[in-house]
Amino acid sequence: MASRVIPVEDFDLVIFGGTGDLARRKILPGLYRRFCSGQMPETARIIGAARSEHDTAEFRQIVRDAIREFSKKNECDDALIGTFLERLHYVQVDAKGEDGWGDLRDLMRKDVVKAYYFSVAPSLFGDLAERLQAHGIADEDARIVVEKPFGRDLASAKKLNQDLAKHFDETQIYRIDHYLGKETVQNLMAVRFGNILFEPLWNSQYVDHIQITVAETVGVGGRGEYYDKSGAMRDMVQNHLMQLLCLIAMEPPSRFDPDAVRDEKLKVIRALEPIDHHHIVRGQYDATETEPSYREDAGDPRSRTESFIALRCMISNWRWAGTPFYLRTGKKLKARASEIAVVFKDAPHSIFGEEAGRHANVLSIRLQPNEGMTLKVTIKEPGPGGMRLIDVPLDMSFADALGEEADDIPDAYERLIMDVIRGNQTLFMRGDEVQAAWAWTDPLIESWEARSDVPKLYDAYSSGPEDAAMMLHREGRRWREIKE
Ligand code: NDP
Ligand code: BG6
Repeated sequence: MASRVIPVEDFDLVIFGGTGDLARRKILPGLYRRFCSGQMPETARIIGAARSEHDTAEFRQIVRDAIREFSKKNECDDALIGTFLERLHYVQVDAKGEDGWGDLRDLMRKDVVKAYYFSVAPSLFGDLAERLQAHGIADEDARIVVEKPFGRDLASAKKLNQDLAKHFDETQIYRIDHYLGKETVQNLMAVRFGNILFEPLWNSQYVDHIQITVAETVGVGGRGEYYDKSGAMRDMVQNHLMQLLCLIAMEPPSRFDPDAVRDEKLKVIRALEPIDHHHIVRGQYDATETEPSYREDAGDPRSRTESFIALRCMISNWRWAGTPFYLRTGKKLKARASEIAVVFKDAPHSIFGEEAGRHANVLSIRLQPNEGMTLKVTIKEPGPGGMRLIDVPLDMSFADALGEEADDIPDAYERLIMDVIRGNQTLFMRGDEVQAAWAWTDPLIESWEARSDVPKLYDAYSSGPEDAAMMLHREGRRWREIKE
């Protein structure tokens, strides 16, 4: 089964920060993959822009090396890479000065889609927006793509929204949350709203609780300086986990269109209750015999930043009142595994008697790795000896179900960039959504800062601090095992 690839319109895509880490690891290899799939028109162009002096030939060499380093071996074909590189250009531009902007303006074509990807430090987003307009480079159909983090609190996010709004309309701004570009994350919507099966049960009457886990095995390593000012709450919860929570909890939008979907997500964020500190557990990974602790990685022996967080969220609306949503994410946990588990309530009455035990259905959606879904159902244990019940998984791995097509699934960045060219904002965050997310997280952060809360140490490559397990235990529940 080959996947259908619909080519996008002709475009000029400028990547500010085209020589940086994100561009080399994700954006450019992703564009190469889209080129190989046939989705990129022959005449489309990609323009790298940064302060350092390079000519186009040098930039092409940087990108050639990046594709070789960050793509799968079987995707690297010398001839194809060569043809792809012909689409690349480089312009030396300083976001904070006037140099290079005239060259960029001269290079841009009329009558094609124009997109400007801000893959530079967030402190430069406002400068880029301003200069694109001041130099007459962006027309009214141009799009800007803004990387994370989008602010570090409500005040800074508001300011950034205002700065961008001076130069671009909301319909031109594409705020990236790469989790929304992941195949399985989009599948959440397909599963919920494409099937009659689940939606009638998708509420507090039938759902006991929901767990959202995004576990990583990597530490903060070389990103210690950035991460220590951020922590798991700002780095992961305020954006990625909140987006997952929204997609799981939102009401069905009337259409799959950008504002209908984003309106529903916004309502979820606005309905989140404040959390008291008994329902937040923060942790920091400890050293192993061979690896440094979080504090050593962060370069601050007294750091109070969390590399792990677990929270219990409650949503005040008719659908979810009384159903806890447990969220957790952390670095150096026992496996790289992200999943959403919807744990249903027990059947109201067991006709099989107490000895048959309690059996709750669980729908687990594995986001990565081994993308797929499992529904735990109860059946009779085979054989004689009465009615004994066991739980078995109804398992669907996307790789098995979709065969070769699963290999063609675009990486999150590839898909999102193609959506920018198509002008589809559904999988991008709207300004009010980001602000609402900060409005909810700010008081939580302020509260632990005011208490000088010290994160609990946890063993590297474990499930996180014991207190996180206790938080659920107190409510008669337990976390699902973190496993690939
Ligand atoms: P890097 O520091 O690796 O790259 C920064 C890029 O910006 C370089 O190309 C640099 O080139 C260019 N640059 C710096 N100053 C200027 C300037 N004044 N004018 C024009 N260009 C400039 O950063 P990353 O690639 O890691 O991050 C880029 C953005 O992506 C950030 O917002 C980050 O938060 C976000 N992000 C990054 C992730 C990652 O995995 N790296 C993950 C998620 C988000 P030069 O010095 O030559 O100007
Ligand atoms: C980024 C965070 O947004 O997402 C990183 O800044 C994190 O800290 C990464 O490691 C996780 O993304 P993925 O796609 O590897 O799950």
